[in-house]
Amino acid sequence: MKLNKKVIAAVLASAMVFSMTACGGSDAPAQEAAPAEAETPVEDAAETPEETEAADDTADAATEAADEAADAAEAVVGEGGNIGVCIYKFDDAFMTTYRNALQEILEGKGYTVTFMDGKNDQAEQNNQINNFIAQKVDALIINPVMTSAADQIIATVKDADVPTVLINREPTADQMSAYDKLVYVGCDARQSGTMQGELILDTENQGDINGDGKVSYIMIQGDPENIDAQYRTEFSVKALTDAGIEVEELDLQRGDWDRNKGQEIAQNDLAKFGEDIEVIFCNNDDMAIGALQAIQAAGRTVNEDIYLVGVDALDAALNEVAGGNMTGTVLNDAQGQAEGAVQAMEDLLGGKTYAAGEQSIYVDYVKVTPDNVADFQ
Ligand code: GAL
Repeated sequence: MKLNKKVIAAVLASAMVFSMTACGGSDAPAQEAAPAEAETPVEDAAETPEETEAADDTADAATEAADEAADAAEAVVGEGGNIGVCIYKFDDAFMTTYRNALQEILEGKGYTVTFMDGKNDQAEQNNQINNFIAQKVDALIINPVMTSAADQIIATVKDADVPTVLINREPTADQMSAYDKLVYVGCDARQSGTMQGELILDTENQGDINGDGKVSYIMIQGDPENIDAQYRTEFSVKALTDAGIEVEELDLQRGDWDRNKGQEIAQNDLAKFGEDIEVIFCNNDDMAIGALQAIQAAGRTVNEDIYLVGVDALDAALNEVAGGNMTGTVLNDAQGQAEGAVQAMEDLLGGKTYAAGEQSIYVDYVKVTPDNVADFQ
């Protein structure tokens, strides 16, 4: 908990610094709200006294309009507006924790919030986004079903002029640059992959349990369309090879973030490769919990004859790390990301816009081992 709060504080602090740098000029709410016609005469103001007076009037009107817009934004921020939240699917362990955190924060701040279950179907989610727009929500928070749908989602919210925070599935900077009232809050998945590799490097034999000079592993991947799955798969192994360790991939299979699939893949691989498997890398904890069931059913013992790592720090995984049944996990800070997403949403509601290339706000991952697991429970 202590660590969590520190992470959140760091995010908020950096978001504030970022907000100040990005807001400095024409992005400030007052100027956003001022109509373009009102700005032009202000530039000519010095030319004649008459023009100066006229310009002053126009400038006053512009300031008034800006104040009104700022008041309106404040009313939404302070007194609760209508917020639509689209989750890629409710039936996802980590996104359930994230959703609960978002709900608590948003409702605690007085917003009226509606959550929609995309059921892992992009067409369904597109309808939900359109419905929210038709209902004139004040802001949207979207966890896209497919990263490849980002262009379409961004075009839709831009067209409707709805401030939007994307979460969990990061589009490219180029895609986001299409709309300046759009921001992504999430994590840099490379970091979580690297930390998984480090968890193995930190073991007494650096993952080479049978001493044959190489680490033989299976990789249970999330949804391969997802950047988190791609980066965790790549960077977990890269941490080993960067440290000069030889590796052998016995199998790589998609488990779609799902516990049952993690169990099935591990069960089949344990039957096929037996003692050759020294490490099971899982792109998330839910699949790792499934893999653990298969490991135990096969009579193997984690941290003795096999290593097992996940990502997310779900409660179930924290218990297994504490009990020595998982080598470690990596905190995917749902609370910190939810806080960051709501902060970003309120910045947008307050009139903040984001310059291209500055539309991603990251929350740090944290390595979880038996030594520090108590801090997270
Ligand atoms: C990842 C998380 C997974 C899954 C996925 C959904 O960040 O580690 O457990 O929730 O997001 O996109």
